[in-house]
Amino acid sequence: MVIPMDEAPISIQEAKDPSKQGNEVTLRGWIYRTRGSNRMLFLVLRDSTDIIQCVASREDLGEERFISARELPVESAIVVKGRINMDDRAPGGFEVHLKEILTISKADRFPITKDHSEEFLRENRHLWLRSRKMNAIMKVRSTVTGAIHEFFRREGYHEFTPPIFTPNQAEGGSTLFEVKYYDRTIYLSQTWQLYAEAAIFSLERIYDVSPTFRAERSKTSRHLSEFWMAEMEAAWMDYLEAVSVAEREVKFIIEKVLERNMKELEILEAEPERLRSAISAKWPVITYTEALGILKERSGMDVEWGKDLRTVEEEELMKHFDTPITVVEYPKEAMAFYKPVKEEADAPGPVAKCFDMIAPGGYGEIVGGSERDTDAASLEEALKREGEDVRKYDWYLDLRRYGSVQHSGYGLGVERVLAWICKLDNIKDAIPFPRTMTRAYP
Ligand code: 4AD
Ligand code: MG
Repeated sequence: MVIPMDEAPISIQEAKDPSKQGNEVTLRGWIYRTRGSNRMLFLVLRDSTDIIQCVASREDLGEERFISARELPVESAIVVKGRINMDDRAPGGFEVHLKEILTISKADRFPITKDHSEEFLRENRHLWLRSRKMNAIMKVRSTVTGAIHEFFRREGYHEFTPPIFTPNQAEGGSTLFEVKYYDRTIYLSQTWQLYAEAAIFSLERIYDVSPTFRAERSKTSRHLSEFWMAEMEAAWMDYLEAVSVAEREVKFIIEKVLERNMKELEILEAEPERLRSAISAKWPVITYTEALGILKERSGMDVEWGKDLRTVEEEELMKHFDTPITVVEYPKEAMAFYKPVKEEADAPGPVAKCFDMIAPGGYGEIVGGSERDTDAASLEEALKREGEDVRKYDWYLDLRRYGSVQHSGYGLGVERVLAWICKLDNIKDAIPFPRTMTRAYP
């Protein structure tokens, strides 16, 4: 857009640089707050980088321009020019003394004012994205997904992109979204896993960050119907090595956020010290059977061996840890068909070579993974037990027929990790446009 002002606009962040103090600057953005008296106008300008207070007097702008500027509603788009100075009295510590205001687009009355319910803000998410909170979360999110790519590429993994339309389930039929696909019904992807298992026989080590769909029936602060999963799959790898890759990945993500997003963490009151101390420790790895022991001894909680850990049990368990922990070797019975049995385990019943990483602070399971069963016959049997038509998995069973090797992988829930890092009350704020059982708008 051509802006009829002689100087090129700079960002608010750039304007706050010490070298710019006392200079005249041109800024552009949206009115975040505005307040005026008979003589003075105070407006807070917002751009993608920051907010800054601007002031103008009736004399500075002249009668007519002062009055029309004073009438501009919040979220009007403007370009301003004025002298910037550090000023302890101004909110944020800087003030721009305006000489000119150019209106690019005068806003209607903005529906979001103060004290709205979370539901109202979600109904208006397309506008609420402009809030400082959502702006900060989206910046951290960008760091998180960027760090995932950086981590795996550094480790020599290839990015591999799976299909989203799939004919198979992998994480249980009850959370499948059916899609009309021409004249038949298929599903939206619950995980990239089965396709990743095909690709490792070519690429060996792969990762992705992809949209994932689950028709979750529970209304919790941890479940979305559409979320992003960062997954990895590696040939020649056992599940315990995968656990250590996951620990390094999550620590790397946090390091990058601490490096790049201190300002955002402060806006979110996310207590970054909690993260800094978490990444300086080694994260415990315990078995499911040991977890039940801890629940019994330290919490007086009885869980029957063989039952999957529910939210209440996970939360109780995590009261005893302030870093993430990984629980390995869950009972085979409760697990997805592809998780192999661990022979000679010290447990009351058969357990699988699998693991979940659980975050502290009530954020729940952030990573789930396992080794994969390499035996076609036992896979077939497990699929039948789940009531699946084995013929639909013929292509998958082929992977066991042509040079099968030990392999493992896991999926990291991007929004779960982000909710923990940003200390969010609800996972719905970790994604720009949340999709849940009760919401698919806007
Ligand atoms: O534990 P899950 O179900 O694991 C799998 O899907 C494996 N096939 C992954 C693999 O081995 N490649 O899901 C992985 C992670 C969970 O640990 C959780 O963080 C997140 O995905 N997740 C969800 N996040 C938000 N909303 C939901 N409904 C989620 N379901 C799982
Ligand atoms: Mg899981």
